[in-house]
Amino acid sequence: MGDHPVLFIPGPTEVDLALREIMAMPLLGHRDPRFVAVVQDVCQRLRALYLTTQHAAFETAPATALMEAAVRNLVPRGGATLHLVGGAFGERFAKIAKACGRRPEVLEVAMGQAHDPAALRARLQGGAPVAAVVITHNETSTGVLQPLAALAAVVRECQPDALVIVDAVTSVAGAELRFDDWGLDFAFAGTQKCLALPPGLATYAVSERALARAAEVEERGFLFDLPKAVKDTNAGKTLATPCVPLVYALQRQLERIELETLEQRWRRHGELRDATLAWAIEQGFLPFVADDAARSPTVSCLDANGADVDALAKRAADAGFKLDKGYGDLKGKAFRIGHMGDHDRARLDALLTALAR
Ligand SMILES: Cc1ncc(COP(=O)(O)O)c(C=O)c1O
Repeated sequence: MGDHPVLFIPGPTEVDLALREIMAMPLLGHRDPRFVAVVQDVCQRLRALYLTTQHAAFETAPATALMEAAVRNLVPRGGATLHLVGGAFGERFAKIAKACGRRPEVLEVAMGQAHDPAALRARLQGGAPVAAVVITHNETSTGVLQPLAALAAVVRECQPDALVIVDAVTSVAGAELRFDDWGLDFAFAGTQKCLALPPGLATYAVSERALARAAEVEERGFLFDLPKAVKDTNAGKTLATPCVPLVYALQRQLERIELETLEQRWRRHGELRDATLAWAIEQGFLPFVADDAARSPTVSCLDANGADVDALAKRAADAGFKLDKGYGDLKGKAFRIGHMGDHDRARLDALLTALAR
């Protein structure tokens, strides 16, 4: 056993020692030209991560702050949003839209299910126009990966003026996401998930047309005034003081991801999901997500099938690992293994072997 519990929870995730050490480097002032260059470099590398030639940047904040920023920048006050909900984080986004004075409408599926592009088409063709469609790419609470490319294509086809806003918090850097190819307008993720860094920065990509839309929206706020934030951050000049050590670590991690390649990183996550599923079936647990194609490559949600989840978590802890005992209504019924970030097969196998004993 190492010096700390190895995190297999769905965020924050395990951070490699090499990245933790970078954060212990002496600080630079954030206006120091050397740090300004780091910020500029990070913005450029984030474009590669999101697969966009449009815009990318980051802010020192949790990912939830970008949910609020998306609403306040991309939807006029009183404007309508359509939220594809199937779990806690989709629900949170609708609540945020309401709290910001917008008019959220919810299209809901049962927990554990993916959204059907045909149902979205029926709603968009038959219903009132919306300013934005909001999709949680990977619903962390249930382990469902939505068919984002197909859903975004339906939005483009049926309501070409609606923006596609994507919570990619537990998909970016773990599951395939192609910002430009899929016609997305805003997508964001914190550093504490598939990027395998501590929490503290929220990264995002934003389309040209979303920035143009934002420029017309009033009262966008101050820190998260997207047209200004994107421009200033890309020039290396964050408005407020960023979490400097984490920015160094993000730069290094983006380099490491480029070396691994995004495609290989997506493949590795898929292999970890498949290994987890094979183990679960052998042990008599049931995948909470019935549809193969909807099963997340970054977090597996497993129906405990009557097993004592506290005892499982204890066995994991005794072996030096931390797993999750289920989210919200699923607590104690379905446990989650977050196999995201820099985990490899050997480390996952060590956890699964400990649990199987
Ligand atoms: C899908 C999803 N969206 C949003 C969040 C919120 O992220 P944060 O806690 O960084 O605000 C989470 C956190 O678990 C998440 O999994």
